Amino acid sequence: SSIMKGGYDHYMQKEIHEQPDSIQQTMRGRVDFQASKRVDPSWDPYHEKRITLGGLVDHYSTIKRGRRVMFVACGTSYHACLACRQTMEELAELPVSLELASDLLDRQAPIFRDDMCVFVSQSGETADTLKALEYAKARGALCIGVTNTVGSAIARSTHCGVHINAGCEIGVASTKAYTSQMVALTMMALALSEDSIRLRARRNEVINALGMLPEHIREVLKLDAQMLDLAKELKTEQSLLVFGRGYNYATALEAALKVKEVALMHSEGLLAGEMKHGPLALVDEHLPLIVIATRDRMYAKMLSVVHQLLARGARLIILCNAGDAEIRETCASRNCRLIEVPSTVECLQPIVNIVPLQLLSYHLTVIRGYNVDQPRNLAKSVTVS
Ligand code: AGP
Repeated sequence: SSIMKGGYDHYMQKEIHEQPDSIQQTMRGRVDFQASKRVDPSWDPYHEKRITLGGLVDHYSTIKRGRRVMFVACGTSYHACLACRQTMEELAELPVSLELASDLLDRQAPIFRDDMCVFVSQSGETADTLKALEYAKARGALCIGVTNTVGSAIARSTHCGVHINAGCEIGVASTKAYTSQMVALTMMALALSEDSIRLRARRNEVINALGMLPEHIREVLKLDAQMLDLAKELKTEQSLLVFGRGYNYATALEAALKVKEVALMHSEGLLAGEMKHGPLALVDEHLPLIVIATRDRMYAKMLSVVHQLLARGARLIILCNAGDAEIRETCASRNCRLIEVPSTVECLQPIVNIVPLQLLSYHLTVIRGYNVDQPRNLAKSVTVS
């Protein structure tokens, strides 16, 4: 089994470190990175097609004519949907709703023929997601699958879809599937916007950033030793809160899920905008808080959150972009630690940001002495509901 783990101690560790390659696999043959360098005078930049999703191409116009896109998933796969919701709204210019599969079924929520339902599942076998799919299908919605498992139940039952091609994921904690799901959903949003000339510059910006993403992930993986140090510092804590907003609300929820699921430490991801509506009462000089404050359109608001927390003597771990002078200055000689990550276009920043937090949850698990690849009470695919 150590051969299967490719020299790593655990599958989760191997899968975290595989991410530069797994996201590359997700994009392989689907993203045209060369267009901006093209010199052929007959080439028409206004009608370029830079994203090719073979399993969806016949359905683009149906999707664009839909009344809304509805993402349906559980756990980490749900967080990938949450992370990409704004990208989909912005590029596909459609209303996007998000559903946890079990809750959609509990409510028997209305779904119509002109709904475009996207079922996101690593395994493609999750019972709740599969049941939600049957439910949506019976109501005549177009059902799109985004899975990592060719031939899985969800891949077979959907009308069309995208395989994320991240390679087999064995650790119960989903890591490389999460980043590949976000890449796949971003590609889907880009593909759906290809008719819009107005969004062309934006699209090109995102595509160019996708091309640099494997390198950025390679860069951020170098924080491994630093995350081990941080894990040692947090080893005996009871609880860890993670604040994010905008694109990185999903990062906060996903980081907290990893810490709960494998490190068996209580952790909660919180929308920073809700801080004053309750969670702030928990803040003192002992409780460790992770604040995600990379430079996007939420940056000024996150900086103000940092100031409010520091005013209460909070113990902060701030995830920010490398070389952020403002944050460095704010935190100098304070009860603060920084995690500095490379910057990318804001809709892809969550893909970079989650990696050090995956490493943190991994190291926390090992030094707390828990089973990394098979946390107690959990199964890789939840095939009962
Ligand atoms: C992730 O770390 C969890 N093990 C879990 O939340 C998982 O993402 C969820 O069960 C959904 O699984 P799926 O993607 O295979 O449908």
